[in-house]
Amino acid sequence: MEHLMNPLDLSVEEMDKMFDLATDIEHNPEKYRHICDGKRIATCFYEPSTRTRLSFESAMLNLGGQVIGFPDGGVSSAAKGESVADTIRVVSCFADICAMRHPKEGAPYVAAEHSSIPVINAGDGGHQHPTQTLTDLLTIRSMQGRLDNFTIGVCGDLKFGRTTHSLVNALARYEGVKFIFISPPELRIPDYITEMLETKGIEFSEVIRLEDRISELDVLYMTRVQRERFFNEDDYVRLKDFYILTTEKLKSAKESMLILHPLPRVNEIAVDVDSDPRAAYFKQVQYGVYVRMALILTLLGLAPEV
Ligand code: NCD
Repeated sequence: MEHLMNPLDLSVEEMDKMFDLATDIEHNPEKYRHICDGKRIATCFYEPSTRTRLSFESAMLNLGGQVIGFPDGGVSSAAKGESVADTIRVVSCFADICAMRHPKEGAPYVAAEHSSIPVINAGDGGHQHPTQTLTDLLTIRSMQGRLDNFTIGVCGDLKFGRTTHSLVNALARYEGVKFIFISPPELRIPDYITEMLETKGIEFSEVIRLEDRISELDVLYMTRVQRERFFNEDDYVRLKDFYILTTEKLKSAKESMLILHPLPRVNEIAVDVDSDPRAAYFKQVQYGVYVRMALILTLLGLAPEV
């Protein structure tokens, strides 16, 4: 693998190897402190981000490397009309690896085509977000002990939420994973995903009310309504508070259910849920750093055998 655009660029075996490496990093951070001495990551972000960008930067710093980049297209030469293809050619002269986020679907793919360094898709429009999926899977594997034979409820904006598209594609490759998609009809999971599940004979259902199915779930993946991808504000206002996970609703959920969220949270998880032992969304952020460290090492060809 030269670049990471989509979680399916990694085979299940390669993903499992990446998680083994991330887990070794978690337990033996000092072993990794200087592996990337002298290496640089460029974070080229054309769209807002807190976690993903800082997570890539922390990952490289934890490995002994350095960081350059821009947090906003408006402060880069994109504002002068430079193409992504030209920007990546330039960035290739300054850095050893690049993480790119862009509001346009496919922009990181264009970058990868013109790049002489590995490019990581850090989120492209409403399309894919492979490193969030690596984070989500590592969190499930670490906290639940396995990535097969469980039921996951994916709730919220399943139409525009790129994290959900990448997550379902990746989890559909593991044995016995059942999906319950919980969304308002306007924000349904795209047909290409349900068609993929049908073709593979994977069990899934689509419902509107979270309360109806919460008791069946081993993992609940909450998401934010993606305001920036709506065509009109009225629709956003109508749908934004469709789901609010409360301690009351959690009463019928399993004791062992994991609550995940890629963050940022807006209103979809009440703040008092944070102290419930099932809330794992802040731990998930920490797993994101370990798995990005593992990914950087793998793409730079520096990953040790673990
Ligand atoms: C997600 C994203 O950017 O798609 N955030 C993240 O990377 N953790 C989810 C979101 O913005 O809602």
